[in-house]
Amino acid sequence: MAPSFDDGNSLFNFVVRDGNGVKGMVDSGLSTVPQAYMQPPIERIDKDRARKHGHPPIDLSKLGGPEHDEVAKQIVRAAENLGFFQVVNHGVPVDLLESLKDTAHDFFSLPAEKKAVYRDDVSPTPLVKYGTSFVPQKEKALEWKDYISMQYTNDAEALQHWPEEIRDVSLEYLRTSMSMVRKLLQVLLENLGVKPEDSMIDVLVDKKMVNMNYYPTCPNPDLTVGVGRHSDMGTLTILLQDGIGGLYVKIEDDSEFGKKGEWVEIPPVPSALVINVGDMLQVLSNGKYKSAEHRVRTTSTKSRVSIPIFTMPNATAKIAPLPEVVEKDGNTLYKEFVLADYMKNFF
Ligand code: OGA
Ligand code: NI
Repeated sequence: MAPSFDDGNSLFNFVVRDGNGVKGMVDSGLSTVPQAYMQPPIERIDKDRARKHGHPPIDLSKLGGPEHDEVAKQIVRAAENLGFFQVVNHGVPVDLLESLKDTAHDFFSLPAEKKAVYRDDVSPTPLVKYGTSFVPQKEKALEWKDYISMQYTNDAEALQHWPEEIRDVSLEYLRTSMSMVRKLLQVLLENLGVKPEDSMIDVLVDKKMVNMNYYPTCPNPDLTVGVGRHSDMGTLTILLQDGIGGLYVKIEDDSEFGKKGEWVEIPPVPSALVINVGDMLQVLSNGKYKSAEHRVRTTSTKSRVSIPIFTMPNATAKIAPLPEVVEKDGNTLYKEFVLADYMKNFF
């Protein structure tokens, strides 16, 4: 039976501890958002005031062809300014993108017991984690989101440990995306004056994770967020979003993309993928590429899914601006650190 969601403890037990998630709460019939999910006014998203980011998606099939330089320039310009861009002809099959979205809906429609086996403290494998919000034990206001996260070590372990309902499409998505990621990094590193070896790119994307995010419908979308403002910690993130929309990015500096501090929406584009720069790539580039803050709104009409791939260096990696860039810039904006220490702060 669904508890009274006005009581913080029973809400926490039902949603987090017992693994029902926000979806379970919504399915139990809910006409208003519980207090625990109400964002303070400055974190609420005024959708009527945000512009849409109108830049056309970048056509990656042109890399390596006669228009290579122009396309490379578009990628660099987007990474330097907004830190977000969309790509098409990216090599990830379009019907796979459709299967991924369907599979995510099917997975979150499973009975809570099926998903709850992967809750953090009971999951049979450290590679897979099912959860809700971000760190519900610590957040002041909870996020209107459930998720499952799958770490990639190698194919054999993924086949053995990832939930079988979502395993095969997720693996295929990761495999096809990674060849695109390598091409993008090649372009972004070359622009920094680095002649990237394969082994260097291997280090930058050593850790990989596929997530599925589920944002249930929300009775009061103006009071909540699907994901609150954050930047991604890693190197590059690949994101598949569905047609609902609601992903907003904060403009870091005045540019052709808008005014500093303004939020723009990355609109859904059929068969496109969203790419964004993470904190580690910002540091490596000595601040040239922007790891922009972003957040997601909720809606009252339809549940939304998104499927990001996060890439990052190994936790033991030492991270600092690349020497080629520091030499050119004549200064360094960041002191060297170990990624594991940075991660402790992040969470
Ligand atoms: C994330 C994220 C955006 C989205 O998972 O880090 O920013 O559209 N997701 O779901
Ligand atoms: Ni993010």
